[in-house]
Amino acid sequence: MSEPQAPKGTYDLLPDDAEGRDLVVATAAVVFAAYGYRRIVTPEFEDTALFERGVGEATDMVRKEMYTFSDKGGRSLTLRPEGTAPICRAYVEHGMHKLPQPVKLWYYAPMFRYERPQAGRYREHFQLGAEAIGSADPQVDAEIIAMLAQLYEELGIGELRLAVNSMGDQVCRPAYVERLRDFLGGRQAELCPECRERTQLNPLRTFDCKKETCRAVLGEAPQIVDHLCADCRAHFERVTLLLGDIGLDPQVDFRLVRGLDYYTRTTFEFSSAHLGAQSGVGGGGRYDGLIELIGGSPTPGVGFGTGVERISLVMGVRESAKSGPDAYFVCYDERLRARVFTLVQQLRSELLLEVDLDLAGRTPKGQLKQADRSGALRAVLVGLEWLDPGTARVRDLRNGDEDDVALDALADWFAAANDTAEGAP
Ligand code: HAM
Repeated sequence: MSEPQAPKGTYDLLPDDAEGRDLVVATAAVVFAAYGYRRIVTPEFEDTALFERGVGEATDMVRKEMYTFSDKGGRSLTLRPEGTAPICRAYVEHGMHKLPQPVKLWYYAPMFRYERPQAGRYREHFQLGAEAIGSADPQVDAEIIAMLAQLYEELGIGELRLAVNSMGDQVCRPAYVERLRDFLGGRQAELCPECRERTQLNPLRTFDCKKETCRAVLGEAPQIVDHLCADCRAHFERVTLLLGDIGLDPQVDFRLVRGLDYYTRTTFEFSSAHLGAQSGVGGGGRYDGLIELIGGSPTPGVGFGTGVERISLVMGVRESAKSGPDAYFVCYDERLRARVFTLVQQLRSELLLEVDLDLAGRTPKGQLKQADRSGALRAVLVGLEWLDPGTARVRDLRNGDEDDVALDALADWFAAANDTAEGAP
């Protein structure tokens, strides 16, 4: 049998990168808490109908990208391709309309899309996202965009471009969609077969096409920002004004229709010039009709999703360099192995220190080498023949400083050393 491999478009996150990932998620948790968002976890799969209705049957996501299967009870289920519809489902199911509005929720979860894998595009990717449900106030749009901008800032990737658009609402959009359909109808010969089909099914989806010829035609298409009703225009102006007030510089991009059918009014996207084709780092928008579409009472909402793989790409391949353990024990006398084992255990349980010891029967020389390789801050040498058996030599592996410490006093020694380190400027 050939060597086993992770499925196409998926990846293993090895420990160094997993630790970097944890840091990104921990940073997000702190930033999101500052804005009053609380974490929610929903299932990895949902009824297929949720996405068909919520995301839209004419979208690429529903038509081509879903991992849909029947379970043994004959139900059609789909691995979550995106986080918004499931959270709206949870909002309705748990009667969250009874809570003070808007309800602010964030998530970190894998998403599954059958897309053509390439750099920054996977079949399983992980998103950090947030949804504010229950308020139509443009301040919520501005706040959630500001929150995402702050996350990027905290992660050291604050230089992203921010594009915004308005998709209108049920008052002004239908008339715009008809205008767009008429325009595209007159340009069919220049469009790809898929866009010709989209012209009938859902003309807005032609903006998702990446083909140069179609993009050129769409460059001349009527723009939705010129066809907004008074309320949508006022909303859009307020959002861009508020963003300007807090120092963000959104660029209006009329092509930003963002692949999913549920958007109304504001859409936005942060992108990086360094990511090639997959330049979108994070994006979202308002979805005032979505909850009603999936069976709840009319409830507005706004949110975003940002792919952590794309964040890592912008941050550089390694998300953070892991430092080694606080101490590595090196045992020079086989008879002291059991003592070393209990000492290590004591430091871990009493002080929560990261402490390592040899578990592979290495010679003392091999253990010392391993201490170096692990990047440990200190080596604790136990059983040196020229020392009292009850004493260990603690060697600082950064500068070579040594201190002889009684085994019984090691925990106190490390507690004191830690206090000094924490108190240091
Ligand atoms: P989305 O634009 O489809 O929006 O995905 C959000 C982010 O997920 C993208 O900006 C990108 O960083 C990342 N992403 C998407 N697909 C892939 C992929 N195949 N591989 C790697 N990363 C990917 C949504 O999913 C909406 N639910 C966002 C939202 C929340 N809108 C309102 N609330």
